[in-house]
Amino acid sequence: MNQENLEEILGNIDISGEAPVLEPDRQYYFMKKARTLVKEKSEALGRPLTFCVNTFGCQMNARDSEKLVGVLENIGYVEKQEEDADFVIFNTCTVRENANHRVYGRLGQLHAKKKKNPHMMIALCGCMMQEAHVVEKLKNSYSFVNLIFGTHNIYKFSELIVSALTSDRMVIDIWNDTDKIVEDLPAERKYSFKSGVNIMFGCNNFCSYCIVPYVRGRERSRSPKDIVREIEQLVADGVVEVMLLGQNVNSYGKNLEEPMTFAGLLQEIEKIEGLRRIRFMTSHPKDLSDELIEVMKNSKKICRHLHLPLQSGSSRILKRMNRRYDKEQYLALVEKIRAAVPDISLTTDIIVGFPGETEEDFLETLDVVEKVRYDSAFTFIYSKRTGTPAAVMEDQISGEDVKDRFDRLLKRVQVIGREMSSRDTGTIQEVLVEEQNEHDKSLMTGRLSNNTLVHFPGDASLVGSLIQVHLDECRGFYYMGTKVG
Ligand code: SAH
Ligand code: SF4
Ligand code: F3S
Repeated sequence: MNQENLEEILGNIDISGEAPVLEPDRQYYFMKKARTLVKEKSEALGRPLTFCVNTFGCQMNARDSEKLVGVLENIGYVEKQEEDADFVIFNTCTVRENANHRVYGRLGQLHAKKKKNPHMMIALCGCMMQEAHVVEKLKNSYSFVNLIFGTHNIYKFSELIVSALTSDRMVIDIWNDTDKIVEDLPAERKYSFKSGVNIMFGCNNFCSYCIVPYVRGRERSRSPKDIVREIEQLVADGVVEVMLLGQNVNSYGKNLEEPMTFAGLLQEIEKIEGLRRIRFMTSHPKDLSDELIEVMKNSKKICRHLHLPLQSGSSRILKRMNRRYDKEQYLALVEKIRAAVPDISLTTDIIVGFPGETEEDFLETLDVVEKVRYDSAFTFIYSKRTGTPAAVMEDQISGEDVKDRFDRLLKRVQVIGREMSSRDTGTIQEVLVEEQNEHDKSLMTGRLSNNTLVHFPGDASLVGSLIQVHLDECRGFYYMGTKVG
């Protein structure tokens, strides 16, 4: 949806009548209504109203926040980085306990700011809001919050803003699940040249430690037609790289009326003229097909990077995690991928300290790390999530042993990552230029197909273009380079 089309639609809406029942028309109606409310408020104040969206968690949440910003800018709010804005929104994550602590901490600080700015509105949304005990706590102890909504009804943001702007009480709207996907709503991209694109929502895997299936609901795939149309519009608007988003992209399309595989979808997207790079996230090892490996091998656009979460290298722990692959299957898969796409860079997620994990189990994880040699790995200490099967397993572990394992793992992962990252030193590679370096304005920062960062002398006019860069020197996880040609 581009701005012109949206303006045309909004121009034809009459807000003196009843709100339409069908989506997305209903949201267009509320968008227009919100515009008048925001205009009245800012005229009374004699200045524009400002907003600040704070995003926690994964790429899904980052993309959701772009949708929130799209609505806010459309109805007349102006973005401001600081948290003393007139409308502060926290898009929350609950995958680990410390993510929740951070939100409560920040809310405390916000309360002080709100006392100074009586116009200030505070909204909370995202995964944490899908947990009943969180909403209960907010109702009881954080009554200064204006609006709370969840992950399933984020498309209703315009309507919810109108409710919040016209009510003195906390507005709460949380759905347990949904089978609905609402298309054609605005989103404001953070980068002009690249964008995330949701291809599916939810997760059906129920890994025993993970809260995501409970807060994001059951798996739903968007139709290939809608996805391709969105990417075509993005490309027409200057986007050259897309990141296809889903908790498990390898199970894409299973529940569509006309089923389609993820590999099939990738082939359709590859055909889009003007699109130069395709990334995706995340791939569950259990569903990674030979068809996908073949498509990656033959593709000119799919990037040479695969994020393949391991979680644990112990087959015994993997079984308890309900991951549905074992150590040998994972290693065989890696071998198959490397044989087909030798220059691929592999990254992963690993959990340390899952209930019942012994030193022997941990050594199995280290063994996989040594064998696979990841370019980088996100390592996490197991966090108990209420409501998940692992939370009630009897052999919970914690303390020094776990901390010690975590440190040992991190050290190995970093040493190997450095060695792996430097393997292209001295070669010329294609780089998508992303931004001017924050610390040194004479340098530009870009990304290789395999996701490694490169800094090189250049100017801001290069942002968004694909250029050839000689990789002069590897410094840990990034390169210093020189533009060629
Ligand atoms: N869908 C993705 C992961 C999404 S969550 C996948 O299956 O790969 C991102 C990562 O957070 C997971 O890969 C896992 O390593 C980590 N994680 C999830 N739940 C966790 C928990 N309870 N404690 C610690 N880490 C967890
Ligand atoms: Fe969580 Fe597993 Fe689903 Fe990933 S695949 S979101 S780890 S349940
Ligand atoms: Fe967090 Fe929700 Fe993503 S729990 S990791 S923001 S899906």
